[in-house]
Amino acid sequence: MSELELTVIGVAEEAPLVRAFHLEAVSGGQLPGYSPGSHIRVQLPNGDDRPYSLVNLDPSIETEKGVKHYRLGVRLEENSLGGSSFMHGLSPGDRILTTPPKNEFALAGDAGPAVLVAGGIGITPIASMAAELLRNNCDFLLHYSGRAQGSLAFIGPLRDLLGERLIEHYDDLTGGPLDIDAVLSASDASQHLYVCGPKGMIEAMQIAARARDWPEARIHFELFTPPVPQTGDRPFEIEVASTGESYTIPVGESIIQVLEAAGHDLIYDCQRGDCGICQTDVISGEPDHRDLVLTDSEKAEGKVMQICVSRARSVKLVLDL
Ligand code: FES
Repeated sequence: MSELELTVIGVAEEAPLVRAFHLEAVSGGQLPGYSPGSHIRVQLPNGDDRPYSLVNLDPSIETEKGVKHYRLGVRLEENSLGGSSFMHGLSPGDRILTTPPKNEFALAGDAGPAVLVAGGIGITPIASMAAELLRNNCDFLLHYSGRAQGSLAFIGPLRDLLGERLIEHYDDLTGGPLDIDAVLSASDASQHLYVCGPKGMIEAMQIAARARDWPEARIHFELFTPPVPQTGDRPFEIEVASTGESYTIPVGESIIQVLEAAGHDLIYDCQRGDCGICQTDVISGEPDHRDLVLTDSEKAEGKVMQICVSRARSVKLVLDL
């Protein structure tokens, strides 16, 4: 499907550093429908794009049949690489280009009980899921966690919508992060677990759920933060096995970015290490895994890697590309 041209029709402050953007088609017509958990990718002036989840807080709207408006929630990141600062510069009347909606964080087909966990701006896909579960009379709880009172976006409408199904957590009230063990202890492995938040939260949830023998098929997650360089990162070499071409991957750039700039046609999506679409076989060398897709044993084996985020411990990787 071709790209969408959208007009910003409203901008609202939802929390400190978080703005909601209301969008409609430039033509004024119906927009493609979407399922809860979907995102669109917004094109930036430099040609890059960024994914933002579609927010729906109205259970009476069946978004899959097409909608008049989209709503996004975007947090202005301290170390913005261009996406959130571009979005926060938008005003009503501005136009943007986006992809049609796509969903890599969908609700499971069965209507069984669910546990939703959102950290900070990770609420954006989770809120739409909560509205859908409510619409379908499903049994669920939403644990919504933030650093401080007053920091959580969409909290007023969520309180009105969910009542006792919403459990708020504030680090400054309890003196620490969300107690993941307590969340899981109050649930059971027959429930679907949906988690969106920072990498540390998702990793902690994965570890705790797996320790309780939670089936992998019932652990669903999406990371909302883009990868950032880590202390000690250094450049490394990659070789494309099919052609013998070699490239240097500098600090702050991914394998995908370097290969695309060199004209390679690659398949990928999230560019955050959580969808698994860019997974590539490693012929030689030792990857430095930074994704949320592979299990610990797959990472230890080192036979595959996610080339959107992972780097190298060895000076060179030969990739099956
Ligand atoms: S593009 Fe999603 S894991 Fe790499």
